Amino acid sequence: MIHLIYASETGNAQSIAEDAEVHFKNQGHRVRLIDMEDLQLKDFETMDILLAAVSTWGDGDPPCSAEDFFSELQSSDEPLSHVRFAVYALGDTAYDSFCQFGKDLDAELARHGARQLLPVLENDVDFEENFDSWLEDLDAFMDAPQPDSVIESRPPSVVA
Ligand SMILES: Cc1cc2nc3c(=O)[nH]c(=O)nc-3n(C[C@H](O)[C@H](O)[C@H](O)COP(=O)(O)O)c2cc1C
Repeated sequence: MIHLIYASETGNAQSIAEDAEVHFKNQGHRVRLIDMEDLQLKDFETMDILLAAVSTWGDGDPPCSAEDFFSELQSSDEPLSHVRFAVYALGDTAYDSFCQFGKDLDAELARHGARQLLPVLENDVDFEENFDSWLEDLDAFMDAPQPDSVIESRPPSVVA
């Protein structure tokens, strides 16, 4: 299952996550869309693929709705090596801390041992411009054989 999480103040990152939800459902994937406001660290236990669309507010800060979860993540050392992730970061180059929260989330997930599927994608005010190519890159990953699922679906070996 793909977990799509978003952190948004005025809806831009949310709309990216919702469009990605439609895209991946149309591709036949099971998808769960979650506002970071409703996310807890224990939700990561069952996660495999995590895609995040997040904006930056204040001066390089997370949207208000993401503050609690991000603090929880920062203060934890929970290993997340079973998670593979990609971050779509929204921001505005007019700000010094361009896309800072997206970069911080990317770094924080990596600190927990989660594996990056794609480098964090930093988007300026035309935040939809890179969306299709991001989906294409992710589709290429989803369509590739997944080592974990191959192992799970392999029949038990027969000893001669
Ligand atoms: C008050 C304010 C502060 C912002 N601070 C930043 C910032 O520090 N860095 C940045 O890259 N973008 C910043 N932005 C731009 C937003 O991240 C950008 O408009 C984004 O598309 C908003 O997405 P959202 O609707 O999902 O929250 C700021 C925008 C506003 C209005």
